[in-house]
Amino acid sequence: MSELKSAPSAQTWTHRWTFVLAAAGSAIGLGNLWKFPYMTGMNGGGAFVITYLFCIVIVGVPIMMAEAALGRHGRHSPINSMRELARGSDASRAWGLVGWMGALSGFLILSFYSVIAGWGIAYTVDMASGVFQGMTVEQVGASFDALTASPVKVTIWHTVFMVLTGLVIARGIHKGLENSVRVMMPALFVLLLLLLGYSIVESGHFMEGVHFLFAFNPEDLSWDAVLSALGHSFFTLSLGMGAIMAYGAYMPKKASIARTVGSVVVLDTAIALIAGLAIFPLVFANGMEPDAGPGLLFVTLTSAFANLPGGMLFGSLFFLLVCLAALSSSISMVEPVVAWMTERFNVGRTGATTAYCAVVWLFGMGSVLSFNEWSGEEYQVFGMTFFEVVDFITANITLPLGGLLIAVFAGWVIKRSYIYKELNLSNAQFNLWRALCRVIAPACVLVIFFANLLG
Ligand code: PHE
Ligand code: NA
Repeated sequence: MSELKSAPSAQTWTHRWTFVLAAAGSAIGLGNLWKFPYMTGMNGGGAFVITYLFCIVIVGVPIMMAEAALGRHGRHSPINSMRELARGSDASRAWGLVGWMGALSGFLILSFYSVIAGWGIAYTVDMASGVFQGMTVEQVGASFDALTASPVKVTIWHTVFMVLTGLVIARGIHKGLENSVRVMMPALFVLLLLLLGYSIVESGHFMEGVHFLFAFNPEDLSWDAVLSALGHSFFTLSLGMGAIMAYGAYMPKKASIARTVGSVVVLDTAIALIAGLAIFPLVFANGMEPDAGPGLLFVTLTSAFANLPGGMLFGSLFFLLVCLAALSSSISMVEPVVAWMTERFNVGRTGATTAYCAVVWLFGMGSVLSFNEWSGEEYQVFGMTFFEVVDFITANITLPLGGLLIAVFAGWVIKRSYIYKELNLSNAQFNLWRALCRVIAPACVLVIFFANLLG
């Protein structure tokens, strides 16, 4: 035992993987499995996907590296790290505001994330009890509509998910969750591959799905779709709100940020693409519309499981994994805020978590009602429901804006030598990273913002 403990290489190895697991746990979630497919469907397919991949590489990777480096250098909650690191610049307080905006993003995202994860719990339970067995697509679709039409049912599951999130945070059992991520992620991968196999063999529309996902028709590319793709690249990588910065604070000095970020991004992107490749052939095979919206994942995959041998078992396992993936993401939205609350006020973790989660839960009721009582036009703003407004504000405004400011901060404000040491790259690589952070990533975000305002 003690021999193992004192072996330095073993220790470094564990630490490096702890950060990868925590960051991958944050990144991989409903964004990949639920949001990516339905956004792709609503934005016309290939053009959206290609733009999203472009944003991941040009904007997402350098900003994730910046967040991890700033977090590791600052070693506090994001709000305090940014303020500390900016000390001496005239705008120290202003940079603290970036942390605040991040906390706001986390608050807003969690409020609806918990509602959708609640649907996931409902599906895990229903799947395990066999209610879907032998159902047609129409019946599965009708039962999805029945679930979301019931504020009571959805509220119950929304509550359950929020309580679970709070329990993990309050009891500081991240370690336990990280270990389960280690098992969960490969299991999720295997089940997605199984679904992909089912799609290839049984749907008879696999190539149609591939074509829909990857065919680039420039005429599909409105500025609106480009903004959605940019926003989704922030959402899916958990960027622009301090989650990665908060985890970076626990990253050991020796671990390579570039390699770590590389693994997380590859995993996240692979899961999203496999989910898309499994789902769209089923959409076409069943004569569904790709732009069906937020129900897409639930209806297509549930009808596949309903007709698959062993579908009850695999289906409930799949939705259970979706819920766990959502949980490891939701705790990363809460952690930066709770860390800050305990630094700033004289409160313990339990008190801070309870108070915070209660307020987020209440706000989340707006999203619960968006699919039933408040779905009517009289409750909409700019033609969007409450849920759609919250989703739009976070993914398309506050996350990209937060990411833009973090990039500017890492590229222009903080001393070059600090970041240089943290990133530990060759000179050429460092200069490339710096050019991306200083000019290219901010320019991409600004151009897309202004094109949308004008267009
Ligand atoms: N990246 C997560 C997902 O894809 C969502 C998330 C966004 C998590 C922002 C943390 C912060 O599901
Ligand atoms: Na993701």
